[in-house]
Amino acid sequence: MSRDTHAAAEDLNAAPGRGRPADLVVRNAGELLTCADGLGVISGGAVAVGEGRISWVGPDPDLEAAVEIGPRTRVIDAGGRVVMPGVVECHTHVVFGGDRAAEFQMRVAGKPYQEIAAAGGGIKSTVNATRAASRDELFERGRRHLGWLLRYGVTTVEVKSGYGLSVHDELRILEVYRDLAAVAPQTIVPTLLGAHTVPLEFAGRADRYVDLVVGEMVPRAAEAGLARFCDVFVEEGAFTLEQARRVLEAGLAHGLRPKLHADQLSAGGGAELAAELGGASADHLDHVSNAGIAALAAAGVTAVLLPGAVFFLGLHEYAPARRLLEAGVRVALSTDFNPGTCYTENVFLMGTIASAHMKMSAAEVILALTLNAAHAIDMAGEIGSLEVGKRADILVLEAESHLTIPYHWGINPVATVIKDGVVVQ
Ligand code: NIG
Ligand code: FE
Repeated sequence: MSRDTHAAAEDLNAAPGRGRPADLVVRNAGELLTCADGLGVISGGAVAVGEGRISWVGPDPDLEAAVEIGPRTRVIDAGGRVVMPGVVECHTHVVFGGDRAAEFQMRVAGKPYQEIAAAGGGIKSTVNATRAASRDELFERGRRHLGWLLRYGVTTVEVKSGYGLSVHDELRILEVYRDLAAVAPQTIVPTLLGAHTVPLEFAGRADRYVDLVVGEMVPRAAEAGLARFCDVFVEEGAFTLEQARRVLEAGLAHGLRPKLHADQLSAGGGAELAAELGGASADHLDHVSNAGIAALAAAGVTAVLLPGAVFFLGLHEYAPARRLLEAGVRVALSTDFNPGTCYTENVFLMGTIASAHMKMSAAEVILALTLNAAHAIDMAGEIGSLEVGKRADILVLEAESHLTIPYHWGINPVATVIKDGVVVQ
C-alpha cells in the first residue's frame, strides 16, 4: 500500500464520523490487490467500507484497531482468496437487436469479416435488426448482457450506441442506456458512436452522413445529457481520418471527449488523431504505427486493447502491447462485447489472451482491467483501485494468487461482487 493511502486513511479516521461502525468489511484476503502504485499486493489484507466508499485498507491484523466493527457491520471472510477492485469494462456495444450467429458460420466457412460487411452484412445487418426491435426488446437484451457482465465482476461499463445510424435510432439506443443505468447495479458510461459505419441510405454519400452526425446527432445527444464520449470507427469501409476529425471536433465543442476505434484492421493514423485531439482513449490498435505509439505516450492517451476481437475474427495480428508498454503508454483491456467481432462477456478471458498472445504479465493484465480501464473513461479518481475515498467496488475471487487470474482460463473466477459497498452478486 502506498504512503498516500496510509496518510489518507489517517485523515479520514481523524475526521468527524470516526467511531461510526463500518457498513461492511472484507477481511482475511490471501492477497488484497489495491491496484494503487502498481498491483499493490497486501498479503493478508482487509478493506473497510462506509457509505459506499472505501474507508480503510490495510493488513488484516490492523483492522480492528483502525475500524469500528459494530453489530450492523457486514463481515465478509475472503478465506485466504484474492480480493481486487471491481472490473471496469471500458469498451462495449451492449445494446443491439438480433445476433450474427449465422454470419459467424460464414466466417467459419472462410468468408472474411470485411467481405461480409461489404455485402451488406456485418454492422449493417445489426443496424437493420436494431431499428426493427422495440424499445422494450432492446432494454431486456441490454439488461441480460449487463447481468452477464456483472457475474464476471464488471462494476462499471462503458456502452456505445452505433447500431442505429439515424438521429432517431442513435438517440433511442442512448435512451435505453439511460433507462438501463437506472436499474442496473453497475455504473453505466454512455458513448455516442453515430459514426460507426455509413448507413445504406447514405451509400456513396459518407460526407452527407457526417454532416448529419456533426449537425444534429452530436448536439442532440449532448444537450439531452445522453453521452459522455464521442467515438468514430476509422477504417477503410467506415470513416476517413478527416471525417473522424470533424465528428470528434463537434463532440468536443459539445463537451463530449473523444474516443476512437483506431488502427483495427489496417494502420490508418487513428492513434495520432486521438492524441492530437486529447482523446481519453484509442481502442483496438492492432496495426498502430510507431509514430502512433509515440503520439499516444506523449499525449497520455490510454490504449484500450481488445484481443477478443482478434481472436474471434480468427486473425493473428494482436496489438503490440509490449511496445506500447515499453513506450510508456497506459494500457487497458476490454472485451469489445458486440454481436460481430466479440460476443462474450468474459472479461477475464481477455486477460488470458493478452498474456498468451500479447505477452502481458498477470500484474499488467489486472491493472489493465481496473485502474487503467478507469482512466480510459475518465473515472480513475473514483474507481479502479482500492483506495480510501474511492467507490467501494470490490471483488472476491475463487483464486489464492493473482497469478491464477490469467492462468485458469475460460472459467469465471468471481465469487462475490460488491458495488458501492453493497453485495450485488
Ligand atoms: O469494435 N470496429 C468496429 N466496431 C465493432 C464491431 C462491430 C460489429 O461487427 O458489429 C468493434 O469491433
Ligand atoms: Fe468496438
